[in-house]
Amino acid sequence: MEQTINRGLDGVYIDESAICFIDGGKGQLVYRGYDIRELAGKASFEEVAYLLWRGELPDRAQLDAFRARLAPYFRVPPAVYDLYRSLPAGTSPMAALRSAVSLLAGFDEQPDGVDEANVHRIGTQLLAQFPLLVAAFQRIRAGQEPVEPRPDLSVAANFLYTLTGEEPSPAATRVMDVALVLHAEHGSNASTFVARATASTLTDVYSAITAAVGALKGPLHGGANTAVMKALEEIGSLEAVEPYVMGVLAKPGGRVMGFGHRVYKVLDPRAEILKEVSRGLAEESGDSKWFEMSLEMERVMDREMAKKGKQVKPNVDFFSASVYRMLGFPGDMYTPIFAVARIAGWMAHLYEQYADNRIMRPRLVYTGPTGKTFTPIDER
Ligand code: COA
Repeated sequence: MEQTINRGLDGVYIDESAICFIDGGKGQLVYRGYDIRELAGKASFEEVAYLLWRGELPDRAQLDAFRARLAPYFRVPPAVYDLYRSLPAGTSPMAALRSAVSLLAGFDEQPDGVDEANVHRIGTQLLAQFPLLVAAFQRIRAGQEPVEPRPDLSVAANFLYTLTGEEPSPAATRVMDVALVLHAEHGSNASTFVARATASTLTDVYSAITAAVGALKGPLHGGANTAVMKALEEIGSLEAVEPYVMGVLAKPGGRVMGFGHRVYKVLDPRAEILKEVSRGLAEESGDSKWFEMSLEMERVMDREMAKKGKQVKPNVDFFSASVYRMLGFPGDMYTPIFAVARIAGWMAHLYEQYADNRIMRPRLVYTGPTGKTFTPIDER
């Protein structure tokens, strides 16, 4: 067998998929035939989850039925709250989410079945529960009691409601819906690949999703939005942006968080949409600091990358940071919010994977020593 190494699995196709198409050269992201610009701001997160899972947008009756299937799952076992209370102070919300998903398997009477009906049941449950898991952890670590979700509210509204205890405004719910729709799916990104690879052993959904949450946590993937906010906070002012960026780029291998993408060679369409959301929130609130700093960072990166003949544009995590900041979320919650959205995409891929599975088993080119002989331990 020819030994071709594709580091980072760059350019490797692992299977066919009918869920998502990305044209990195044109900056196009398509969910089941719909350009993301068609969906963002028009479709609710539930409509998009339905689209990703079923292949078609729901009509009114189908959406109502889907919402009715979600409603009973708007609750989490109290053991999750006990787990959260038992975690050491300083535990990251992504680590808490990863543990909570794993714990949920223990409260499922049929966690292991990978037939279509069971996988859909668990997917529906997780779609409803992810926002609650994330909101409850934030409340518990802030010394507050978790808020019981409202079955009559949408996923986006329930997230905001269980986080704050107050019914969210239609405007805040709309922004949340846009953010969730934009983050819902993105082909065989690292965490989705991990979910599919884990499921390819025919292990259970909870294991695959726990693994995916772990992969999303990394700063080169979903963790970048938290890293962007941390950087903006450290920078602190508009004038300090340029020296910060120049300082990062001066370091060997220096990466400015929220920029660059394996697939997009032009502006990520999600970043384009979130940039406008961020601009809108800044204008409404009169607090444009984070947005202005983001624009300045983009300007300096554009200039510096052009000097090197490179196109390194903002990605989805870049403008989501200022958006979430203006919505009042703590910086380390941004990645869990990404997970609240991406559970829709992960599950769509698990449906495909379980339906037509082959275990994933790539190879490594061996470069270690050969021909050694064994020496008993006392003679080494
Ligand atoms: N800051 C500065 N330079 C960057 C950069 C960034 N964020 N992202 C890419 N580049 C440059 C690299 O210097 C590299 O140039 P080189 O070939 O001369 O070394 C070139 O662009 C290609 O980058 P590379 O790291 O090979 O791309 P990749 O496909 O392996 O990695 C990312 C993609 C997303 C991991 C990478 O762009 C990155 O680390 N970004 C920051 C983290 C982030 O925002 N992640 C969220 C992704 S949605």
